[in-house]
Amino acid sequence: MANANRVALITGANKGIGLEIARQLGQQGITVVIGSRDTGRGEAAAAGLKAMGIDAYAVQLDVLSTADITALPGYLGTKFGRLDILVNNAGVIEEHGGATPEALRKTLEANVVAPYAITQALLPLLTAAPAGRIVNQSSALGSLDLNASGDLSLEWMLPAYNSSKAALNMLTVIQAAQLKDTPIKANAAHPGSVKTDLNPQGSLNVREGAETAVTLATLLEDGPTGGFFHRGETLAW
Ligand SMILES: NC(=O)c1ccc[n+]([C@@H]2O[C@H](COP(=O)([O-])OP(=O)(O)OC[C@H]3O[C@@H](n4cnc5c(N)ncnc54)[C@H](OP(=O)(O)O)[C@@H]3O)[C@@H](O)[C@H]2O)c1
Repeated sequence: MANANRVALITGANKGIGLEIARQLGQQGITVVIGSRDTGRGEAAAAGLKAMGIDAYAVQLDVLSTADITALPGYLGTKFGRLDILVNNAGVIEEHGGATPEALRKTLEANVVAPYAITQALLPLLTAAPAGRIVNQSSALGSLDLNASGDLSLEWMLPAYNSSKAALNMLTVIQAAQLKDTPIKANAAHPGSVKTDLNPQGSLNVREGAETAVTLATLLEDGPTGGFFHRGETLAW
């Protein structure tokens, strides 16, 4: 598939895995738009990619802001006239102080409601693209199968975070079903345990962590939809 002129929006891309997804997509010749809740951090990240020869832009996107989400289709439509790839990457863990109901509420807002709202807002642009791709950055911790297996230590059975990624997986399955008669493919990615601010104990680097989302963002027509993947392997829901 020709990448020239294709446009990708990656949420939460001012650092971590999101920034690396933007870099890897950009190096394939795709125009990348960095969603960042802090304009300065977004612009700095885009400038870093531009210095590598990547066609990169930054857009103000606090995924919790209805105003920011509402403004997205207008910004992308006016500036590029298209959107081919949406990577819902922004995510949080809010339960370091305990899995309180408030932590659960905040986590679901950022990790479930926000990607749902962003996808809904951008569906007209994605539908108009010749080969729209939606990637929901999930986690193996959202796998019901893994949580029920007895193999996951209690330390990683995080009520809010794991529930949020399970719900994001459900949205992925439903979106893929709803879009099955369109060229759009919607899949969930598990990046692996990646060393970032979110997971300082991670064992993979961001380059490895970005791989799955980049593969799913650039799937060819015969690629899968409605699946949950990690580096070429299908994960159990
Ligand atoms: N690291 C891992 O081992 C791992 C494993 C499985 C899944 N994941 C998933 O991978 C994704 C990226 O995580 P990461 O490890 O790269 O974490 P990270 O380095 O902490 O990056 C998270 C990104 O999300 C952004 N973000 C958080 N809340 C936001 C909001 N309200 N609006 C806009 N952006 C927001 C952050 O922006 P700020 O810089 O402004 O905070 C940052 O850009 C997440 O969805 C995470 O759940 C990570």
